[in-house]
Amino acid sequence: MSALVELDRLGKVYSTRTGDVTALSEVTLRIEDGEFVAVVGPSGCGKTTLLKILANLEQHTSGVGILGNNELGANRSDDVGMVFQKATLLPWLDILSNVLLPVTLKRRASAADKENAMDLLRMVGLGEFATKRPHELSGGMQQRAAICRALVHEPSLLLMDEPFGALDAMTRDVLNVEVNRIWRDTHKTAVLITHSIPEAVFLAQRVIVMSPRPGRIVDEITVPFGPERTLELMGTPEFGSLCAQIRRHFEVSAA
Ligand SMILES: Nc1ncnc2c1ncn2[C@@H]1O[C@H](COP(=O)(O)OP(=O)(O)O)[C@@H](O)[C@H]1O
Ligand SMILES: [Mg+2]
Repeated sequence: MSALVELDRLGKVYSTRTGDVTALSEVTLRIEDGEFVAVVGPSGCGKTTLLKILANLEQHTSGVGILGNNELGANRSDDVGMVFQKATLLPWLDILSNVLLPVTLKRRASAADKENAMDLLRMVGLGEFATKRPHELSGGMQQRAAICRALVHEPSLLLMDEPFGALDAMTRDVLNVEVNRIWRDTHKTAVLITHSIPEAVFLAQRVIVMSPRPGRIVDEITVPFGPERTLELMGTPEFGSLCAQIRRHFEVSAA
């Protein structure tokens, strides 16, 4: 297997008016091409910072990071797609135009781009909604469209920052099954940040546990289940004990 991401003792210090804030400390992590990794950790431990560095939206301040053939921080990368907690669709554009945005910000969308966007929308069950405006869609549907937007320029790395945190539990379950299917269909490398330990275990092949700020990696748990995940899996004793093993980290740090 070849690595898509390699971080070597990566650190990030934010310089603020009131002093320096160390957000990440000595993060060493290798992510294989096609792997699905979830990151869990207490609020403020630097998870979003880590994703922003991977997306080249923030620069690390120590260590080295490689994405594909490029060093992180060298230049803006088009090779990532990002999904945030809020769908952040533009209200005046229809769903198809929203999905095409990463393309149209750079050039005129071709017929092939539009076909690709439609394929993605159909893949998440939104084929009929391409000409609707965002407000005509439910929160879960908007988030599906945001996933299509993150994939439309065919990045090799899909980054998701608590993408379903604002959704109700049932919609979240449905979308988790969907993300698992998208990952299997598209063979993307995926990094998911989540507050939900079951969500991390359900989707990932490996769960990275981070310490309170400054975020360091304190554990890595290999999830032994096959690539296809179904909701029944969540009811199994193996699933429960894996979640319990991860949760123990937070009980200790909260004491
Ligand atoms: N732009 C910024 N400037 C200064 N400090 C920041 C900035 N962004 C995040 N931080 C600080 O860095 C730490 C990690 O933040 P973040 O990566 O958002 O954590 P998480 O996503 O795990 O909740 C926090 O203490 C936060 O206040
Ligand atoms: Mg965050």
